[in-house]
Amino acid sequence: MFNSDNPKDLIESLCNEIEKHNRLYYIDANPEISDKAFDDLLRQLEELEQEYPHLILKSSPTQRVGGEPINFFETIKHAIPMQSLSNTYSKDELIKFDERIKKIIQKNECEYIIEPKIDGVAISIRYEKGELIHAVTRGDGTSGDDVTKNIKTIKTIPLKLSSSNPPDILEVRGEIFLDRNHFDELNQNRVEKGFEPFANPRNACAGSLKLLDSREVSLRPLDAIFYNIGENTISNIKTHFELIKYLKSLGIKISPFFKKNKNFDSLLENLDELKNQRDDFSFEIDGAVIKVNDRSLYQKLGNTSKSPRWAVAYKYESEQAITKLNNIKIQVGRTGVLTPVAELDPVQLAGTIVKRATLHNFDEIHRKDIRIGDHVIIEKAGEIIPIIIKVILNKRLDNSKKFTLAEFVCPDCIAPVVKKKNEVAIRCINIKCPAKIKGWIEHFSSRKAMDISGLGKSMIDQLVSKNLVQNPADLYDLKYEDILSLNRTAKKSAYNLIENIKLSKKNSFDRIIFALGIPNIGKTASEIIARKYESIENLITVKADDLESQSDIGPIVAQSIVNYFSDSNNRIIINRLKKHGINFQYQSTSNDNEFEGLTFVITGVLNSMTRQQANDLIHAKNGKVSSSISKKTNYLIAGESAGSKLKKAQNLSVKILNESDFLNFVNQ
Ligand code: IVH
Repeated sequence: MFNSDNPKDLIESLCNEIEKHNRLYYIDANPEISDKAFDDLLRQLEELEQEYPHLILKSSPTQRVGGEPINFFETIKHAIPMQSLSNTYSKDELIKFDERIKKIIQKNECEYIIEPKIDGVAISIRYEKGELIHAVTRGDGTSGDDVTKNIKTIKTIPLKLSSSNPPDILEVRGEIFLDRNHFDELNQNRVEKGFEPFANPRNACAGSLKLLDSREVSLRPLDAIFYNIGENTISNIKTHFELIKYLKSLGIKISPFFKKNKNFDSLLENLDELKNQRDDFSFEIDGAVIKVNDRSLYQKLGNTSKSPRWAVAYKYESEQAITKLNNIKIQVGRTGVLTPVAELDPVQLAGTIVKRATLHNFDEIHRKDIRIGDHVIIEKAGEIIPIIIKVILNKRLDNSKKFTLAEFVCPDCIAPVVKKKNEVAIRCINIKCPAKIKGWIEHFSSRKAMDISGLGKSMIDQLVSKNLVQNPADLYDLKYEDILSLNRTAKKSAYNLIENIKLSKKNSFDRIIFALGIPNIGKTASEIIARKYESIENLITVKADDLESQSDIGPIVAQSIVNYFSDSNNRIIINRLKKHGINFQYQSTSNDNEFEGLTFVITGVLNSMTRQQANDLIHAKNGKVSSSISKKTNYLIAGESAGSKLKKAQNLSVKILNESDFLNFVNQ
């Protein structure tokens, strides 16, 4: 069948042939050869590989069966973060989404794609020159687990892309899932062997991907569907529709339901159609995903800190459950706000058991007239913490009473609480309130802030209760003996904690800004401020107007910063932190000043990052970004649909980098 005696060529041809039949069988459901003929090809390949083990290709179909177990998963940083989607729960919210988009793009209609929201486990698979290089879970969005070995066992995922001219880099993003029929089978098997059954297909899939033995994974019938891309070197793809067709042409499995809508009305029709077909899919879906079709609008539409503004999820109601509200507890956070929390009869909701729901504030309790003893409908909002949607009134007991705050005092320190005129929040304003201090220290040492490992909740509880810590500066006065004096603290943990506290002094400036816990200042604002003001001295004296003139800093954030630094208590803490040697100075992330003296202009649409992220990459290496081309411009970064700036750069002989050139340039 193959015209070569050369084992290397033979092995390669066999791999390609088997991969092709694999695709025809598993993806196109249109096999051209019998199972026996397929097995013969595979056997032929196995024999050759046994004879010439040095010629085994990484993408050989024989590598799918799984190899030796591993001890742990390596972590891999995503070239481009994996974002999530913002959720909508009603057509009204979708209408608002459409209106917002049309306003930004200044058009009367927008073309949308609708596809199912697959309830699986997100994955990013990187192909280089058509070969599967690695597969990484979403993790925290920035980096995830390297599950390549496990992913390679999934027959519907090509180890090699079907193209004679594959892109240099293509990361495909999608969802791994276990189909419903196989799920029942798997659970039956587990029960027979004495294992706990999985709660739902998504848990079964997540559990399977985390197995350290890929041979075990190969026995679980996992599947995958792809709907997006990460880092890539593809060009000339203008719409999401074209992108998905292109992925299909490469042998990548795409969603069976995938519709283009000329306008919002057609979208609403298809939304209902998808919902009606919901149970026909072999995988579970928990909603629809709506995406703007024209990719060149993505840049303009931008992102929130977690999700793109060009797409939205429309969640189905099955994310709801009914349960009984047993009690309403009041928690006090680091800002002193009293938050009511509902304690519920445990109930299954979208894959987890829920025991608590947030009630936000007291106005919300009154607005929804939520009472202890009520049966309530709860729903997963955003990601983790459920909310109470409404009370089931016909199940309410006759003797139920309206909820009122028993006493107007802080449940933790018993100090009187206050409610300002135009505010919903009720606050404890006692600066010595232990609950506030604990929340403050928890925030200060958290992973995104000073990242002090070993300083867990119970350790903080003890440190604050024993008056060893009243504010973050006290942490740096702690001695080894102080920690040892706490209940159940081993010598090694005490030593490690002191070391970790010391280590945190070297953290970057933006981390300490975030850690201070200035109201309304999140991670992103901290990073912007650190880069712009460079030192704490500059920040302490900054005026609200100056802050507001920075893009991305609004009036609330600006005023919040000014208020914070004008409070003498805060200044005392900052001075003490300074004396302890905490780093209050911005340092560019690169030492080599690689781009110093270079000016960049960015034009067109970047697919793998936002403009802000591209700016950050250049600033991090001490380069400058300008908005207009001149003879002084060193490089033009030209994304898709670049227009007049590209022409001008060509006329002035400015060096032009496309998006992937730029990424290589930055990473070199
Ligand atoms: S697009 C940032 N499309 O839902 C945009 N996501 O929170 C990339 N998901 O993390 C996601 N089906 O794991 C997209 N058709 C679909 C999807 C989908 C399921 C998952 C994905 C994402 C999560 C949203």
